[in-house]
Amino acid sequence: MAVAKQRSSFSGRIGFVLAAAGSAVGLGNLWRFPYLAAKYGGGIFLLVYIILALTFGFALMTAEIAIGRKTGLSAIGAYKKLNKKFGFVGWLTSVVPMIILPYYCAIGGWVTKYLATYISGQATAAAEDSYFTGFISQTWSPIFWFCIYVALTAVIVLFGVQKGVEKASKLMMPILAVLSVVVAVYSVTRPGALEGVKYYLLPDFSSVTPSSLLLTIVAAVGQLFYSMSLAMGIMITYGSYMKKEDDLNKSVAQIEICDTGFAIIAGLMVIPAVFAFSGAAPQEAGPGLMFQALPKVFASMGFGSLFGAAFFLLVLFAALTSSISLMETVVSIFQDKFGWNRKLTCLLVTAGCLGVGLLSCFGYSIWSDFKILGLQILDFFDFISNNVLMPIVALLTCIFVGYVVGTKVVADEVKLSSKFRREKLFKVMIKYIAPVFLVIILVSSVLDVFGVITL
Ligand code: PFF
Repeated sequence: MAVAKQRSSFSGRIGFVLAAAGSAVGLGNLWRFPYLAAKYGGGIFLLVYIILALTFGFALMTAEIAIGRKTGLSAIGAYKKLNKKFGFVGWLTSVVPMIILPYYCAIGGWVTKYLATYISGQATAAAEDSYFTGFISQTWSPIFWFCIYVALTAVIVLFGVQKGVEKASKLMMPILAVLSVVVAVYSVTRPGALEGVKYYLLPDFSSVTPSSLLLTIVAAVGQLFYSMSLAMGIMITYGSYMKKEDDLNKSVAQIEICDTGFAIIAGLMVIPAVFAFSGAAPQEAGPGLMFQALPKVFASMGFGSLFGAAFFLLVLFAALTSSISLMETVVSIFQDKFGWNRKLTCLLVTAGCLGVGLLSCFGYSIWSDFKILGLQILDFFDFISNNVLMPIVALLTCIFVGYVVGTKVVADEVKLSSKFRREKLFKVMIKYIAPVFLVIILVSSVLDVFGVITL
């Protein structure tokens, strides 16, 4: 959800939770989570993810929101205000949304294309195996839809129709939740789907090796940051809009539950469908999974085009509320730094987003042979932001909170509005467990990509 322009406060705690959840719930939950879960061990991934969300995610989100509320500033100013030497963390943090925004919009373009497909009643065509790959490997069609998506995001950010967006997402998010449950129930009850349900919900410990577990953890942590909008300054900004008397502790718990709940349901929609309709090869799952599995579900339902159109409309909406918050953040960083006016900044950011996003689109068509560190262009951007920059920012945040300003600063801020539940866990996570963990993750995922070790 978009961030208000002036430093105003949210109308109340519920407004805050909805806004933060609106930013958190997006393509990360619906598109990214299911394919990672399918790829990295199903039940094991789910278990690791939930444990991490309740410990790691909780600690980092609490720290970020408290830093924002305490300083009343967004990332760049906030770190600096608490300690001059750490101003650079704010800058590093700001790079992350700049990398994510363009490729997020490329995926947003895919969603827009699917919405158009269902509106024109082509549910059967969309369910064919070759439909998705046929689409993304074309040169211009993905770019056309990508541009439409960027334009939608830019227009909303430019005209600042946040009020409308806020109201609409209050209405759309619950509808998306209900529709997702309906689709999940349908998908789970298809013949052959039970194997998928088992694969997704029951951890198979017999197949776990130390290196597969490490790989699963690396993927799950990257996903956690992405999904909860952590380590990119968003929650600091949102925290700065929060009122001192609003219950911070409870808000974090609710955002956690909402974000993780959407992800779990998305997995239930997609993974059993893969087993029921395409035969089981979940380890080969990639970014196309949602776009390939769900159309098969819709095609087999009565009123498939209608369900498909409704579903992709809601996904589009969830994606837009997230990309707006990404673009808004990038715009405000440039505005603050260079003092440019809002319109000009918006146009420049849009142009930059179009330029960089084109690379991600071409990465599946004319430049499909071009690999960076063995990764497709879109995957490369995803990797750099989620597996490299975010762990670095998170590590610096832990050091900053744990050893520079002290965990007490965060604890005191939380206690302004309520008791601090899980305080001990918070301290231990921030000071000891998370930093060690983050170093291991960072080192192993980088070594893996450079081929030094094979996970
Ligand atoms: N958390 C969003 C998602 O799961 O789709 C992605 C995102 C949105 C990341 C906004 C960062 C952000 F600022």
